[in-house]
Amino acid sequence: MKTRLKIAVLISGRGSNLQAIIDSCQKPKYPAQIVRVISSTEKAYGLQRALKAGIPTSVIDHSNFSNRMDFEAAMSAELRSCGTELVCLAGFMRLLTETFVGEWAGRLINIHPSLLPSFKGLDTHERALAAGVRIAGCTVHFVNTEMDNGPIIVQAAVPVLPSDNKETLAARILVQEHVIFPMAIEMIAKERISIKDGRVLVDGISSGEKKIICPH
Ligand code: GRF
Repeated sequence: MKTRLKIAVLISGRGSNLQAIIDSCQKPKYPAQIVRVISSTEKAYGLQRALKAGIPTSVIDHSNFSNRMDFEAAMSAELRSCGTELVCLAGFMRLLTETFVGEWAGRLINIHPSLLPSFKGLDTHERALAAGVRIAGCTVHFVNTEMDNGPIIVQAAVPVLPSDNKETLAARILVQEHVIFPMAIEMIAKERISIKDGRVLVDGISSGEKKIICPH
């Protein structure tokens, strides 16, 4: 079997997306393995999940650094030291500078709980409900220097119900996050993904082409 893609997962909290990735990596045919979980705080529950799965963890606490450059330099050094080939931001609550994004360009992905480019940033679900959207969802994308704004790899949509509040909508979207994050990693690991003119091609085909929209 081809060597599995070495991924690192960066977290700051609960780590349910991390758990979905851990579960996928435990399947024998999944083409990726987690070489490190890095948390920006020791309080992140995701660290317990990694520990339970026997995955090495590091805490690189941003509050121990006097500036972002030093914090990111420490993270990059840690990522390099374990041979990371893909960095997955899974609820990582720090904004990243151009230097870090530049170093990991094309090897850095994020999950965001909206159908980007709508509702970038925080309070996503409240804003989606306030806007009265009928459909919400989530997006896995490559990271560039603008927040929540790189080439889109996979999206999943869910209905917004009249009875929804931010918790019920978030929960419905989260179920889909756990599907599309491992899916995006798998597509990258299988070398099915390329970027052309700022857009992702899957198997060399752009999403606007008939073959993807109407595969049958
Ligand atoms: C998810 O909703 C993710 O889309 C967003 O932060 C949340 C992290 O949740 N970026 P978890 O820590 O993976 O449970």
